[in-house]
Parts: sequence; C-alpha cells; structure tokens
Amino acid sequence: MSAQTSNWIPRRRIRVAVGLALGLGVTSVVGGLWSPFMLVLLAPALAVGWAAFVMLRIRHQLSPGGGGWEGRIHRLVISRLELAPEAAPSVLDIGCGDASLLVALFEQAPRVAATGVDFWGSNWDYAQAACEARLSRLGHRAAFGRMDAARLEFPDASFDLVVSVMCFHEVRSPAGAKMRGPLLAFSEALRVLRPGGVFVVVDRFGDAADYGAPGDLAAVVEATHGLRREALVETLGVPWPLRTRRALGPVEMLSGRKPGA
Ligand SMILES: C[S@@+](CC[C@H](N)C(=O)[O-])C[C@H]1O[C@@H](n2cnc3c(N)ncnc32)[C@H](O)[C@@H]1O
Repeated sequence: MSAQTSNWIPRRRIRVAVGLALGLGVTSVVGGLWSPFMLVLLAPALAVGWAAFVMLRIRHQLSPGGGGWEGRIHRLVISRLELAPEAAPSVLDIGCGDASLLVALFEQAPRVAATGVDFWGSNWDYAQAACEARLSRLGHRAAFGRMDAARLEFPDASFDLVVSVMCFHEVRSPAGAKMRGPLLAFSEALRVLRPGGVFVVVDRFGDAADYGAPGDLAAVVEATHGLRREALVETLGVPWPLRTRRALGPVEMLSGRKPGA
C-alpha cells in the first residue's frame, strides 16, 4: 500500500487556527495587565483553540496512523463498485485530490482505465503533477485533467463507472446556472456515465446548506436504478470528533445505476 500524501484537513488550516488562538490568548493576557477589559479576548482564544484541537484530532483520525478513516471511506466506495480483480472498466474520479482513491482502486483491479479530474485549487495540498508521479511510482497510469466538476469536458456516456468523494459540496454554480453547484456536479456525473453504469458518490448530502431541500437532490437522482443511501457515520461506526456535524455527520454515500443499459 502506498503512503498517503495529504489529508482532508490541510495542515495550513490548523496552523492558522493555532496562530489565531495564541495571538488572541497572548493579547488578552498581556492587555489584561493594562485593562481588565482585554480579558474578554480569552473567550474567543479558547474557542479557536478548541477548534484547532478538534481539527488536529480529525486530521489524525483520517490519517493511516490514527484509524485511517479516509482510506476506509475510499475502500468502502470501491467495494460498492463490486469489481472483479480482472475487470477493466473505464472509471472517472471527480475531485480526485491526491489520487488516493485511484491508488486503492488499482490495488483492487489493476486493469481499470482510470481518469481523475480536479480543480487542484490553492485551498488544498493537492496537485496534478503529484497525482501523475504517485501513480507512475506505483507502476500505474491514469489520465488526469484540470476541470470544473460543474462542467465536465467529456461527452455523454463516456465512463462505465463514476465515483466522487467529498468534492461536490465545494462546487460553485457557474454564472447563469439555475442549479446549486453540488446538484449540477451530480447531474454532470450522471451525464458522463454510460447507461447501465454504476455511480458511487460520497458527500455532505445531509447538509441543507449545500444541497437545499431534500426534493432538489431527489429530482437529480430520481431516474437512477437501485439507489442506495447510507449515512457514513452509521455504516462505518465513525468515532468522535470525526462523526460531528462539521465533519462526517451529514456525509452520506449514494450509489446506484444509470438506467437504460
Ligand atoms: C476533500 S477533497 C477530496 C479529495 C479526494 N476526492 C479524496 O477523497 O481524497 C475535495 C477535492 O475536490 C476538489 N474540487 C473542489 N471543487 C471542485 C470543482 N469545482 N471541480 C473539480 N474539483 C473540485 C478539490 O480541489 C479537492 O481536491
């Protein structure tokens, strides 16, 4: 198994929170020597410090040394694809990040024709060149492309299988689009899937801030066959604090088949 290169909680985010907590704490204590009113800053310092601790804990839980929950989720997604070791379908991973899921997929079925797309924006520690280098070190090849999940540059019905993990909630709606970004990304995933093809998508489907009213998501997936919806926290028995609302609490796995094979 290859070493994981990064994590869903980037180090940068934790450093900012720790820096802010320390800054507020020191300002409060030093300022308190001059004016007791400065001590009110202790409350936000403690709150931000607590948030930094929780993020640090979650980062650890996601990493291989802390339970490997990120890898467990990838392996659960792959298990839902029910691939035989000799299978060679075309697979698209939308928002592939550091290609961890594709690495695990090749371990299960080395003959798949894999494609990974991502924005590789500055919010994340991921990069296309790192994905290519990682797979080539392991003796695998996948096609990678920088592209917006809201507007996939593939013709209809291009892939046998489509997967995506923790990407759609980040997708923004292009100007003029009538749908929310996450719903648009899901529609695009179904568009590029061939009739009869299988999709497995993990995202914050239980969060109305991302997906709106339940009916909006239902309208996107209503034509699919065998739709299965699982809360990850229950399916995997995720521990605290990874199971909280800000982390995997509202995360579900939706799987099914596009009709019309
Ligand atoms: C939480 S990371 C998940 C990465 C990977 N799927 C995994 O499971 O490790 C979210 C990923 O979605 C990508 N992403 C966000 N918005 C995107 C968009 N509009 N189009 C393509 N990728 C996007 C980010 O660049 C990031 O790599």
